[in-house]
Amino acid sequence: MRAIIQDRYGAPEQVLKLQEIKRPPLREEDVLIRVRATSVNTPDWATVAGIPYVLRLRSGLRRPPNPVRGTDVAGIVEAVGARVSDLRPGDEVFGSLWDGTPTVGGAFAEFAAVAATQVSKKPAGLTFEEAAGSVMSGLTALLAMRDVGKVGLGTRVLINGASGGVGTFAVQIAAALGAEVTGVCSTRNLDLVRSLGAAEVIDYTREGLGGRYDVILDNVLNHPPKAMARLLAADGVFIPNSLGNTGGLFAALPRMARAARLGRFVRCVVDRDNLRALAAYLESGAVRVVVDRAYPLREAGAAVSHMLGHHAVGKVVITV
Ligand SMILES: NC(=O)c1ccc[n+]([C@@H]2O[C@H](COP(=O)([O-])OP(=O)(O)OC[C@H]3O[C@@H](n4cnc5c(N)ncnc54)[C@H](OP(=O)(O)O)[C@@H]3O)[C@@H](O)[C@H]2O)c1
Repeated sequence: MRAIIQDRYGAPEQVLKLQEIKRPPLREEDVLIRVRATSVNTPDWATVAGIPYVLRLRSGLRRPPNPVRGTDVAGIVEAVGARVSDLRPGDEVFGSLWDGTPTVGGAFAEFAAVAATQVSKKPAGLTFEEAAGSVMSGLTALLAMRDVGKVGLGTRVLINGASGGVGTFAVQIAAALGAEVTGVCSTRNLDLVRSLGAAEVIDYTREGLGGRYDVILDNVLNHPPKAMARLLAADGVFIPNSLGNTGGLFAALPRMARAARLGRFVRCVVDRDNLRALAAYLESGAVRVVVDRAYPLREAGAAVSHMLGHHAVGKVVITV
């Protein structure tokens, strides 16, 4: 099969190459998916670039252990493992290989083997590109708003990085839950963020952050955590959620450590219940997938590079 292979850390367009490799082995609990689309997420660009450098100590000094990046997947079931009884060849599915390990991957390829528990029926009415773009960002936003922030009617929610992958989902899900949403982004994205359901928008290129919020989801971490926490109402919840926009030895890890004392992290958990809950939002039309651009598989390097620029509008998708 054709797949994108990473043989070292570095600039995406230099280190990601299209190659022929063997199809992945199918374990008893897996489904083999003929990938139609995948999307780019933070673990992908961070593992390609090998930043923060300190993570290389754990994941491999010269290259990551697994050469194929990509976790989000949408496609057609090709084969099922011996212990999978509720999916069959021909089913259209979406899901993810994400297991919490930053270097996990396998979706930037024609076929991906994924645990059946991490796959669900593709939401009706969505393209494969939209479905693939929804998984990690949509689940992270859903779990941040619903479970960590416990957002409900009238909750005042601030979303920093409202126009990016996680942000575009978070604005819509918070609005669907009845929140009063304020989104932070740059001038060119103000109308988009309003159209997704934000009652207020803050253009960070022209003004500072202000106001009082019950829940703050910070997808950028470009302000000191203490300054963000000062915007919280009593009993408000700060959700720091960013590796940061800089490279180097530690990237935003020290800031994340400080933020951990003031807030609660969200962890993307891929399972059937969460995928079905996300699918319900997508099928009802309450949430749409904002696709910045779809790249063909051979241009995966350009796709990862685009996301590494940190100004993607919604999702960067790869069509296989
Ligand atoms: N907890 C988890 O399991 C989990 C899962 C996925 C992602 N994440 C985290 O979520 C974070 C966001 O991911 P993402 O996919 O949404 O990234 P993304 O798509 O690259 O986010 C881009 C967003 O950042 C904004 N931005 C860039 N520079 C900014 C600045 N100086 N000030 C304010 N906003 C700025 C952009 O706005 P403009 O373009 O308008 O400037 C855009 O809204 C990542 O850092 C990642 O670590 C966590």
